[in-house]
Amino acid sequence: MAGTGLFAEILDGEVYKYYADGEWKTSSSGKSVSIINPATRKPQYKVQACTQEEVNAVMELAKSAQKSWAKTPLWKRAELLHKAAAILKDNKAPMAESLVKEIAKPAKDSVTEVVRSGDLISYCAEEGVRILGEGKFLLSDSFPGNDRTKYCLTSKIPLGVVLAIPPFNYPVNLAVSKIAPALIAGNSLVLKPPTQGAVSCLHMVHCFHLAGFPKGLISCITGKGSEIGDFLTMHPAVNCISFTGGDTGISISKKAGMIPLQMELGGKDACIVLDDADLDLVASNIIKGGFSYSGQRCTAVKVVLVMESVADELVEKVKAKVAKLTVGPPEDNSDITAVVSESSANFIEGLVMDAKEKGATFCQEYKREGNLIWPLLLDNVRPDMRIAWEEPFGPVVPVLRISSVEEGINHCNASNFGLQGCVFTKDINKAILISDAMETGTVQINSAPARGPDHFPFQGLKDSGIGSQGVTNSINLMTKVKTTVINLPTPSYSMG
Ligand code: G3H
Repeated sequence: MAGTGLFAEILDGEVYKYYADGEWKTSSSGKSVSIINPATRKPQYKVQACTQEEVNAVMELAKSAQKSWAKTPLWKRAELLHKAAAILKDNKAPMAESLVKEIAKPAKDSVTEVVRSGDLISYCAEEGVRILGEGKFLLSDSFPGNDRTKYCLTSKIPLGVVLAIPPFNYPVNLAVSKIAPALIAGNSLVLKPPTQGAVSCLHMVHCFHLAGFPKGLISCITGKGSEIGDFLTMHPAVNCISFTGGDTGISISKKAGMIPLQMELGGKDACIVLDDADLDLVASNIIKGGFSYSGQRCTAVKVVLVMESVADELVEKVKAKVAKLTVGPPEDNSDITAVVSESSANFIEGLVMDAKEKGATFCQEYKREGNLIWPLLLDNVRPDMRIAWEEPFGPVVPVLRISSVEEGINHCNASNFGLQGCVFTKDINKAILISDAMETGTVQINSAPARGPDHFPFQGLKDSGIGSQGVTNSINLMTKVKTTVINLPTPSYSMG
């Protein structure tokens, strides 16, 4: 159970502690932040409302711990990460339980998130050993005007303090996707969990604590974004920010100084369906892509652009599958669970009502109870409807009928987002041309958009983000290149 057994020390009465200097602490603010269970809409957990002074303190600790960590041999850093991964997987139950309670993620998916996170940490440790264990050797005589008098050695060095801010929908997985690359590369790490998802994050951090990472290297600060958010992201000690979330990422980018940024923001992932597509495959992928975790994934299918000639048949197939989706509590593994907050449910409802006023065809009756919204397929959506462009982050999938592939590509490219997209056709040549024409960071051919497997590069164009993720790219982003040049008094050519 969350906050008990191995995890008892992270709880102080009914308030979860924050983590600094290798210890679990109570904030001097004397205040806490409540976490509302999206399904029951009642307070579920409380976390510390940390102060700016506490942020300053963890930053100082992070700076000094990083100096010794950078001197820790790479194989030892990897060993500790493997240990953390094993502890995390062995203790998946309390983390999965808190994911269910604070973000209403279905129970099975919550377990999957934790296991996936353990795998990501281990993969990252292995990849780090490989890619950080080698550098480059360059010779000067390949550039015009130079003899072979300079030997250049390059290696990758850490950036310093990495600030990680994961979102509510994958608080554990998208936290470790930032923590593991930062640590293997020799950085220290300050984590600011989302309020909903904070308790899962604190349990995850305790797994790193139990693995025995040095004091101060990892910190986890909880509190209101409005009180410590800007203070953290604009803190002079921070050398890199890795953020996943919404528009806030754009304002962080504008305020952050001259530091590397990794931002995964929103998406309006288009699913382009050609007339030769396998419609059963498309329907299954619209269900998986559009409705898993109730559509609260940045990579969810957020607009279907289907050729008019096959639209009726596809809509019927998707409707039949929507009818089979279960709706209810996350504890019961329902397919559709409550969305994260009342404001999110209200926003989704606003998009649905706008589509209704403008004449979209409702394939199911719109139904909402509290934060629970029943799955909804909207047919005959037109470009003048908000749902054609805005991301609901909920279980609502709009279908736009198109009369040419170009129309589909144009709609996709007219979006201010460019995360992923997908195209369904049996003609691989057409698929490649369409993929090249779509202005998105990734295009999936004959499958719904998805970030994983977690070592694949993952990036957004336009307002969907900056920097690229995936294990290897994250490690590279969290390092910089250092060169040492050996200058010889006379040219030296190896003669074999
Ligand atoms: O919500 C954003 C996540 O990066 C999406 O990850 O494709 O594994 O659901 P996923």
